[in-house]
Amino acid sequence: IKLAAVVPAAGTGSRMQSEQPKQFIEIQSQPILSHTLAAIQRAPQVQRVFVAVNPTAINLYPRWPEAVETVSGGESRAESVLMGLKEAARQGFSHALVHDAARPCLPLSVLLDVIEQGTLQDQGAIVALPVRDTLKRAQADSLTISSTVSRERLWQAQTPQVFAIKPLIAAINKMGVAHPGLTDEASAMEFAGYQPRLVMGSYKNIKVTFPEDIELVSYYLNEEIN
Ligand code: CTP
Ligand code: MG
Repeated sequence: IKLAAVVPAAGTGSRMQSEQPKQFIEIQSQPILSHTLAAIQRAPQVQRVFVAVNPTAINLYPRWPEAVETVSGGESRAESVLMGLKEAARQGFSHALVHDAARPCLPLSVLLDVIEQGTLQDQGAIVALPVRDTLKRAQADSLTISSTVSRERLWQAQTPQVFAIKPLIAAINKMGVAHPGLTDEASAMEFAGYQPRLVMGSYKNIKVTFPEDIELVSYYLNEEIN
């Protein structure tokens, strides 16, 4: 097994409404992307990291750490991931750990668990959490409740997601990078008939999405240092 990490970091962060894409917002004088790369590189199994970035945003990030390379990102998250996967495959890596640039608070234990599970068998593995809130399906007007959806067996997918690279590339190509259902790597693998394993994640592993998430992420990052 030769494991590389692929980090999609080519989004525009439209929901954050910040001046620059959210992965470049600084927390404790470091861009969020730096915290994410550092979190991933705590796993000794990760030999190299391929970061998919928008070429116009590349100057926003002056110094890339050791063992980190950039590839250009794509129109969709899936396309950005695919660019990284192809470069990793070209360099002889057998497995990839895909992790969102926007999740800088990844706990080490979660990272190590998903690497172990994802490289153990050919179904791969993803970090996920059992849904904890009561779920409501709304009426078409989005104003009133139509029904309560059972939480039984429902999980929220996070990243990292770990798969053998060749079947993952094939699965993404089969589904198509523009497919609206291709929102994570597991969905492509499921589409191709695999049943990826669920690995228990952490509520701290939030994806920075809206402005209010910054405060929480600052808190968790600070907590980790202290
Ligand atoms: N991403 C990417 N290439 C894209 C779109 C997204 O590499 N074309 C990355 C983002 O940079 C982020 C991750 O995929 O690290 C998860 O996506 P998301 O949280 O949706 O980020 P954005 O698409 O940037 O944000 P938004 O959806 O609010 O515009
Ligand atoms: Mg997005």
